[in-house]
Amino acid sequence: MFDFKPNEALGKPELYRQLNEAADALTSAEPDAVANMANVAALIWEFVPELNWAGFYRMGGNASGGDELVLGPFNGRPACIRIPIGVGVCGAAAKTGETQLVEDVHAFPGHIACDTASRSEVVVPVMRDGKVIAVIDLDSPRPARFTQEDADGLEALARMLVDRI
Ligand code: SME
Repeated sequence: MFDFKPNEALGKPELYRQLNEAADALTSAEPDAVANMANVAALIWEFVPELNWAGFYRMGGNASGGDELVLGPFNGRPACIRIPIGVGVCGAAAKTGETQLVEDVHAFPGHIACDTASRSEVVVPVMRDGKVIAVIDLDSPRPARFTQEDADGLEALARMLVDRI
């Protein structure tokens, strides 16, 4: 129905510009957060090469009334459902509110191996009014797959999505 397949020769800034334009078009008129996260996870999967996982974790509550990341829409293998704040790469992004660019996940203290194929990872927080409401997580089987250009493109995506998810 939608054909957003990018040209594989695109440089990263242009790839993320096109990805974000497509994400904007798909989410701007839709109020349902799950539908929007599902379509954006699918777009990332289509646009960004060399991934084995791409999707969302949302800030949710745990049984003790504290905060915890809860699995949202994604593409890839079934993943850990709940991640405590501060644990692993996603938990670090949720705790600090800062993007985590990890060249070698095996060297990251507390990394959670949902898929043993993952070798590098980027996690970008989605911030609303100074608080983390979700994170966008991309994993790759290639070490050092992600650079600052990926982080920049995904941070722009996160800013655009903040009131749509
Ligand atoms: N590796 C992540 C967990 C989520 S999965 O990669 C989908 C982490 O350490 O937070």
